[in-house]
This record gives sequence, structure tokens and C-alpha cells, in this order.
Amino acid sequence: MTILLIGGTGLLGGAVAAELVKNGEPVRALVRSGKHIEYLRTLGVEFDVGDLCDPRSLRRALADIRVVVTTAQSDPFDRNTRIDHIDGKGNQNLIAAASEAGVEHFVFVSALKADVGSGDVMLLACKHAAELALKASGLRYSIIRPASFQEIFGNDLVPLKQYVQQFGVGLIPGNGKGFHSFVSIHDVARTVVLALQRSEAINTVIDVGGPDDLTYREAYTRIMQMTGQPRLILPLHSRLLAVGGTLSTPVFPNLRDLLDLFAFCDRVNYTCVSPTWLIDALGRRRSFDDGIREMYSRC
Ligand SMILES: NC(=O)c1ccc[n+]([C@@H]2O[C@H](COP(=O)([O-])OP(=O)(O)OC[C@H]3O[C@@H](n4cnc5c(N)ncnc54)[C@H](OP(=O)(O)O)[C@@H]3O)[C@@H](O)[C@H]2O)c1
Repeated sequence: MTILLIGGTGLLGGAVAAELVKNGEPVRALVRSGKHIEYLRTLGVEFDVGDLCDPRSLRRALADIRVVVTTAQSDPFDRNTRIDHIDGKGNQNLIAAASEAGVEHFVFVSALKADVGSGDVMLLACKHAAELALKASGLRYSIIRPASFQEIFGNDLVPLKQYVQQFGVGLIPGNGKGFHSFVSIHDVARTVVLALQRSEAINTVIDVGGPDDLTYREAYTRIMQMTGQPRLILPLHSRLLAVGGTLSTPVFPNLRDLLDLFAFCDRVNYTCVSPTWLIDALGRRRSFDDGIREMYSRC
């Protein structure tokens, strides 16, 4: 049964595609363009062209699909798209089209504390609205709420690694006192596959995080112990983030919301305890140190 994956060209989406393929699942990636598809090509997945903001393309793509997995989200640095269009209306379009097409299982990758943070962060409000729409749709669903990815410290979108390596500075988006259950995208991807296999994952919300709860300051200290860098850890306090958000709005309208998300995480502690069945099924999870070792040995 082919699985339609939306968001496959993204960081988590690529890991999900790889994990599905490893488990022998046929995958069709819904992509917006031919950009960033090389990795998916190497996995041998099928492609379809579509967009969350184009309901017709979704109806067409879903015609012969029984299982949907979406990891899609808006890009905070994209000047031309808006969070409420993609994470808001776009997710609602996808749920409506899946419902119409008689999809049997819908796996939605949301975000930890989407409900608690919906008053403070637009991305979380959109995620939570999609969760509610999915629950009300009558579709069989699994909602996966990951904590912050360990890969934040190693990817190009938020260039924390570049600052560490080029300038010896560990930039903290916020005061750095809030704890995060930093999780590897590989363990989130394995959770997506388990959601398709396990009865415990049906019609429920699954928090996935850890195994380590760390503040940003502690995370950089670990990185420093392993790599010798950064020499300086620099918090960008919430007020500074707020000013940065306001100043950046004309150029990057979505960026403010990312900064709001960082401030929210600082305030509430972005931590969770994953369900026991999931921890047991995952077995050895990738520790923060494992993740850093892998990301920082690649250069
Ligand atoms: N990063 C974290 O720490 C974190 C924590 C908790 C939850 N999450 C959630 O985990 C999920 C994956 O995050 P990520 O960092 O892997 O995301 P990402 O790398 O930014 O990838 C986003 C994906 O969404 C696709 N997309 C964007 N707009 C679309 C549209 N209109 N129609 C169809 N596809 C569209 C992008 O396609 P293009 O290649 O065409 O742009 C890309 O494949 C997200 O839902 C995020 O909210 C992330």
C-alpha cells in the first residue's frame, strides 16, 4: 500500500522516507518542485507534484492512497510563503482531501506542546488547529509531537554549527535556561514507522523526545567537551529576540514566529516523557552525544 509522504525533501522528511523504505514500505513523495529531491531519488521513492496550498493537486495525489504521512512545515526564512497559509490552511486542505479520498491512516507530525503554546506561537496554533481537525475528521490518525531536534545544532537552516565552527561561539536563541528533550530525527522517523505498525499509536497523540533533557547551555558545554568549540556561549535574551523579530518582519515575515517559539520553549521547558511502549519499541535511542559526534565528525 503506497504511502504518500508530504515534506520528504525536508530534514525529518528525508529520514522518514529512508526509514519507511528500510521497512519495505512503498513511498510516494509529494514535492512542490524538482528541488532537493536527489536524496529521495537515491532511496528509489516515487514522486508526485503537489502543494498543500493547492487542494486540487492534493485530491489528485490522494486518489489511490490509503496512508498519509506529513512532516511538512513552512520555512521561516521564505519571504513568499506564510505560516498561516501552509501550516494553517495547507494542513486543513490536506486533512479535508484525505477525508474525501477515504484515507485509512493519517500520520501528522505536529510539535511538542502544540496545545499549550497555541496562544503564543502561530506555528503551534496552526499545528494544534490541524490536530483538532484531524481528530474531528473521523480519519484514523496518529499525531506525533516531537521535542526539539538534536539536528538544530548541525543543519544549515539555523546555522548554529557554523557559528560554533567558524567563530567559536555557541549562540543560544533565548536565555538558555529552559530544558529541551533533544531528540534525533532518526528516532522521530522510527516513531513514524511504529505509528503505522502499533495499535497503541492509533487515534492518539504521541510525545517523542530525549533520551537527554538539556538546556542550550548544557548542550553547548557537551559540544565543547567533545569538539573543543565553542569557546564562548552567548545567550540572545528574549527581549533581544523580540526586537530581532520586529526588525526582521518586513524582510522575513515568518521569522518572528520562530523567535517566539524559542522564547516559548525557554519559558515552559520543552521537555516530555515519551510513552513506555514507544521507549520499549525504540530500544536504543540516539543520545545527544551520539548525535553531536555524528554531525560534527562529518567535516
Ligand atoms: N526542527 C525541530 O526542532 C522540530 C521540533 C518539533 C517539531 N518539528 C516539526 O517536524 C516537522 C519536520 O521539520 P523539519 O525541520 O524536517 O522541516 P523542514 O526541513 O523545514 O521541511 C519542511 C518540508 O515541508 C515542505 N513544504 C513546505 N511547504 C509546503 C507546501 N506548501 N506544500 C508541500 N510541502 C511543503 C518542504 O518542501 P520544499 O522542499 O518544497 O520546501 C519540506 O519538504 C515539521 O512539521 C516541524 O514543525 C520540528
